[in-house]
Amino acid sequence: MDKLIITGTSRLMGEVNISGAKNSSLPIIAASILSSDKSIIENVPMLEDVFALGQILQSINAGVKIDKDNNSVFIDTSNIINMEPSYDVVRKMRASFLIMGPMLARFGEFKISLPGGCNIGTRPIDLHLKGFVALGAKVNTDHGYVEARADKLRGNKIYLDFPSVGATENIMMAAVLAEGETVIENAAAEPEVVDLSKFLNKMGAQIVGAGTDNIKIIGVKELHGTNHKLIYDRIEAGTFMTAAAITRSRIKINGINDEHLKPVIAKLQEVGTNINILDNSLIIDGNCDLKPVDIKTMPYPGFPTDMQPQMMAFFLSLMGTSMITETIFENRYMHVTEMKRLGGNIRIDGRCAVIEGGNKLTGTIVKATDLRAGAALVLCGLIAEGETVITDIYHIDRGYELIEEKFKNLGADIRRASY
Ligand code: UD1
Repeated sequence: MDKLIITGTSRLMGEVNISGAKNSSLPIIAASILSSDKSIIENVPMLEDVFALGQILQSINAGVKIDKDNNSVFIDTSNIINMEPSYDVVRKMRASFLIMGPMLARFGEFKISLPGGCNIGTRPIDLHLKGFVALGAKVNTDHGYVEARADKLRGNKIYLDFPSVGATENIMMAAVLAEGETVIENAAAEPEVVDLSKFLNKMGAQIVGAGTDNIKIIGVKELHGTNHKLIYDRIEAGTFMTAAAITRSRIKINGINDEHLKPVIAKLQEVGTNINILDNSLIIDGNCDLKPVDIKTMPYPGFPTDMQPQMMAFFLSLMGTSMITETIFENRYMHVTEMKRLGGNIRIDGRCAVIEGGNKLTGTIVKATDLRAGAALVLCGLIAEGETVITDIYHIDRGYELIEEKFKNLGADIRRASY
């Protein structure tokens, strides 16, 4: 097991390059199952989640070559024979459910153990399964497994009770080979859903409306392999923006689509940071007069829940009271206990967190309880006096490529060690 050791209070400077989007890479790699052909995905972040999904595909007999030097993944899905991916890899990663839609669409069946992954809330998959049933599948959940079968999928109108990202993606992938038209209403509009729809359309699918709450899919007979370059990771970008803000530093961040970052940019500007948007990059200066603000997480284009823990870390550094309302996940405050151990003054009341900022943080041993919680603790470590040791960083490695190298290049005192 690895840990991160951060010695606090250095200013950051210089530039950082953002990696490809983790949350695009997973559904897009899964979507390659839809054809019996070869696909090449570029700008793929080399992350534990990507390796795990690669292993899941290999366990159903797909050919997967990961080129770490060039951040690309080559997938050959012509020889898939096994309809049940390996339990050992599936249980590690929630996103393994993303192969359900493609498997059902191409083979008319799948069997998968209920997925594991980040422990933020109960995170059911009922909306995914309702979508499959609406398309004509028979779904069984028994003894920790989900099994589905369909002789033929037929397009339908599907209203999602909540604009779930994963459900939208899974239903989209199941519907591309269904007979007739599918409409997903109250669909998720996240940029990663749009990236997936672009990949699917390059494969020959007919999808319109991705990026809005109404996605229309006209089923086609078959899809072919393709090449695709992923969008950049807006959450990694937001994390580095917040790192500049919390350390009151000025850094340049490359690999930016400012459209995708609108809610984060707006909030950091409201706090008082100075953000200069350039072509595919931005410069953020946190050495300004800053004041506390409130945030409420919402589905895109609202403020992303995946930036909530990092913003909480930042709010600890602001003199005064900030409030966070978490509306997406019911149990996404596990980082609070760890932040309190560093000296943070935070009060939780249901879905709200009240942060009294301005207390000096002091380094100690803390635990990454999930991916973004871990990132938030790294940010705390940057401003805490003395040494902050973060354990269980396998969570961070699931979603941040080369995190300590990137921070080190910016001047942070951070290193990785085994324990
Ligand atoms: C995706 C992202 C994750 C992000 C989340 C919300 C990936 C790989 N992960 O996760 O980083 O935090 O979107 O932006 O893209 N829900 C149900 N039933 C379902 C599905 C979801 O009740 O069938 C609920 C969940 O419990 C949660 C909410 O909907 O409260 C949002 O979940 P969802 O959008 O599905 O998140 P994921 O796709 O798992």
